[in-house]
Amino acid sequence: MKIAVTGGAGFIGSHIVDGYINAGHDVVVIDDMSSGKLDNINPKAKLVQMSITAPELEEVFQKERFDLVNHHAAQMSVRVSVENPLFDAELNVKGLLNVLENARKYGVKKIIFASSAGTVYGEQRYFPADEKHGKNPVSQYGVTKLVGEKYLFCYQALYGLQYVVLRYTNVYGPRQNPHGEAGVIAIFAEKMLKGEQPIINGDGTQTRDYVYVGDVVQANMIASKEDVVGTFNCSTATEYSVNTIFQLLQLRTRARVQKKHGPAKEGEQKRSVASYDKIRHVLGWKPEVSFQEGLNRTTDWFAESIAKQAVSVPPTKADKKKKVSEKVK
Ligand SMILES: NC(=O)c1ccc[n+]([C@@H]2O[C@H](COP(=O)([O-])OP(=O)(O)OC[C@H]3O[C@@H](n4cnc5c(N)ncnc54)[C@H](O)[C@@H]3O)[C@@H](O)[C@H]2O)c1
Repeated sequence: MKIAVTGGAGFIGSHIVDGYINAGHDVVVIDDMSSGKLDNINPKAKLVQMSITAPELEEVFQKERFDLVNHHAAQMSVRVSVENPLFDAELNVKGLLNVLENARKYGVKKIIFASSAGTVYGEQRYFPADEKHGKNPVSQYGVTKLVGEKYLFCYQALYGLQYVVLRYTNVYGPRQNPHGEAGVIAIFAEKMLKGEQPIINGDGTQTRDYVYVGDVVQANMIASKEDVVGTFNCSTATEYSVNTIFQLLQLRTRARVQKKHGPAKEGEQKRSVASYDKIRHVLGWKPEVSFQEGLNRTTDWFAESIAKQAVSVPPTKADKKKKVSEKVK
């Protein structure tokens, strides 16, 4: 298949690109490189450096004639969405619409959309949340993800564009950016490995459902099959507190740090956890990587990349430009 992966230079998108390339597909990454990294991009994929909001996206769709679009490009920070809701909507709503309009015009058969189980349900009424749980997002990011899901439904009804929505819980694993709005695992792992002090927001009893990126890739591979459609949580139905994560990472990295707490984040959800019963029954997917194994793989990757950084000379702006223009064929 010819597949476009928007956000394919980012954390989750780049692993999905690897999955498609390994399965023998022809992949075009569409990424504006605002947070994506060249090093993440599989050398067998073609990179088009462009924003999903750009009018020129039409030329890409016209030329490439994708069978499938896997949409992972987004503004993915809850905090940014609260501080700048117009920016959030520009990317997550208008950007998605630009992709959808081109998809329907140029014969795309299906789109896969990365939604968010951690935000579309809002404060949970029951645990774990299944797909039927009420949708009452309490952040602009949660709203734009939910709006995205509604647009997919609408484009399927109007134009027959098939879709799969995967509502992820907190995804973690290698390549997660520890400096942006990443999850606590990436931030703590990097800090501990560098001998720095991680700060636990609030009392650390807040819990999340952490799904390993390799399992998320498998869900995307199944979702890409022609006969698969629908909306599914992609989760583990298991909660871990920030305090537990601190302890597990400390054991693994042997970091000599004490627990240190900072002020709680205002409005932060206390518990978030989602059921994977539907995706297991309908698609046969379940999380395969245990939390300990996922943490081991993640800390190993961070240790390796910190070691690499220590011996490499940082690239100049000119080097980076050259690398991008080599990739854009
Ligand atoms: N990380 C999680 O825990 C999580 C949970 C639920 C949903 N999601 C969703 O999964 C997707 C990927 O998240 P991630 O964690 O890999 O984030 P990421 O920031 O690592 O990846 C996003 C990618 O999109 C690119 N991008 C941003 N704006 C763009 C634009 N205007 N045009 C083209 N490319 C653009 C970035 O350069 C980056 O490569 C997002 O849609 C996010 O909302 C992530």
